[in-house]
Amino acid sequence: MSALHQPAETLPRRERIVLNLYAITGLVVLVLMMLGGVAMRMAQGTWIELPPDLFYQIMTAHGAAMVGIAGLTSSAVMWYFLRQYVRLSTGIFLANYVLFMIGAVLILGSIFALQYGGGWTFLYPLPVKSNGMWSVHAAAGFMLGFLLIGVGFVLFYLDATLAILRVYGNLGRALGLQWLFGGAIDKSHPPTVVASAMVIIVNGLGTLCGAVVLVLCLVNAYVPAFELNALLAKNMTYFFGHVFINATIYMGVIAVYELLPRYSGRPWGVSRPFLWAWAASTVMVLIVYPHHLLMDFVMPSWILVMGQIISFTNGMPVLVVTAYGALTNVHRSGMRWSMPAKLLLLSMFGWAAGVIPAIIDGIISVNRVMHNTLWVPGHFHFYLLLGLWAMLFGFMYHLIRTRADEPDSAVDRLGFLAYLVGGLGFSGMLLMAGRASVPRRWAVHLPEWVPYAQASSLAAILVVLATIVFAVRIISGLLRAPDVGTAH
Ligand code: HEM
Repeated sequence: MSALHQPAETLPRRERIVLNLYAITGLVVLVLMMLGGVAMRMAQGTWIELPPDLFYQIMTAHGAAMVGIAGLTSSAVMWYFLRQYVRLSTGIFLANYVLFMIGAVLILGSIFALQYGGGWTFLYPLPVKSNGMWSVHAAAGFMLGFLLIGVGFVLFYLDATLAILRVYGNLGRALGLQWLFGGAIDKSHPPTVVASAMVIIVNGLGTLCGAVVLVLCLVNAYVPAFELNALLAKNMTYFFGHVFINATIYMGVIAVYELLPRYSGRPWGVSRPFLWAWAASTVMVLIVYPHHLLMDFVMPSWILVMGQIISFTNGMPVLVVTAYGALTNVHRSGMRWSMPAKLLLLSMFGWAAGVIPAIIDGIISVNRVMHNTLWVPGHFHFYLLLGLWAMLFGFMYHLIRTRADEPDSAVDRLGFLAYLVGGLGFSGMLLMAGRASVPRRWAVHLPEWVPYAQASSLAAILVVLATIVFAVRIISGLLRAPDVGTAH
């Protein structure tokens, strides 16, 4: 039996169907929302016309769906590997999917049927102060949709928590905290369990916080006399948003720990620096969110200073141990550069390079100038396209491989190149526009800004074409035969 084919991963039919639902939904939504993204960028580049209200509806749907689907698809990675070590419930995993879909229908209905266009960050009190553009019901439908999606995630994390507690006793032991200061580390302790414990803690708290602020906003929508403290609501919203999108990469990176060793033929064991890194990032991810509030002068200064300092260090520990670990894992391993391996390695680059603009923007003096420019979408498109989605595509390409030595097709190789070049060009042009102070979230751009939008539209089209190639290959692979997709 080859290193790629491990019996523990063989999925029963029901589990395979649910996993396919996650993967296929993720890919279809990704492609559709990318097309929406291209439409927005082409409109900013004056190549097509989008009335501003439609632009903001597309922007709201694009932001909400892209963040949601990134969370959903990454949770499939966590579920798929974590279930090899602890007993997870397929019913709960399916319930998460169903709640997500109901939430998505509510969100899309409130956007495209009821014209909600307030942005995915639903910042209090803006959703219900639309200046007559949309009704209170539209805003409430949007927020209720988010709430249902949050409930699904909380259920999934509760199930994962119970399963981990049954095997490891508590989350601290799952994180490996008992080995931080000494003692012989159990080398067989799975990195997947460490990462999952971290995600459960941070995203459990983040999602719960998001749910609380959403319920409060929903009450306010129908009982305006019930007013919220706007600053507190903003803190809660950004705490939730920041942690949620960060958790996607911490779930996705499990694919790197599990799969790269199978392609390189070398194990990826836990070490003290690895455990320290995950422990440190657990704390820092929870306290870094104030870097989204650097322009809120009413925030206590010490919180903003903390936001700046933690921005420098937040993702670093996990990123460094993972990127360094990945490089040493594959260095001179004689590994064949098949699609899963290439995509997983690309994800290390995308993640590492994509955080650099965020660190720069986390500096208070820079943030004053850059924050509401396209620099910010430049940063997150970089690490989400070339980091997170590269991990997720790598995982899915692995699922559809039937043999360890299966060669890549010419179409795959071309798709990989187009994705890399297009991804770099698209996010690079957003960063360049940000550097030139082009504001974000403007439906109509001044003539001086149009060339950036046109250049990044061309690159974006390349990304979409490559993603369509990946999606068609993966979906047809997953559907091809009952034993394909999960036989290894
Ligand atoms: C071909 C790929 C993509 C294209 C062309 C695209 C395009 C865009 C554009 C034009 C905007 C609005 C920028 C502005 O003027 O402020 C935007 C915003 C955004 N995009 Fe994308 N995008 C793509 C992929 C993604 C992916 C993969 C994700 C996440 C996984 C994502 C998440 C977001 C988010 C969260 C926003 C912010 C929305 C807001 O400001 O409320 N996008 N995108």
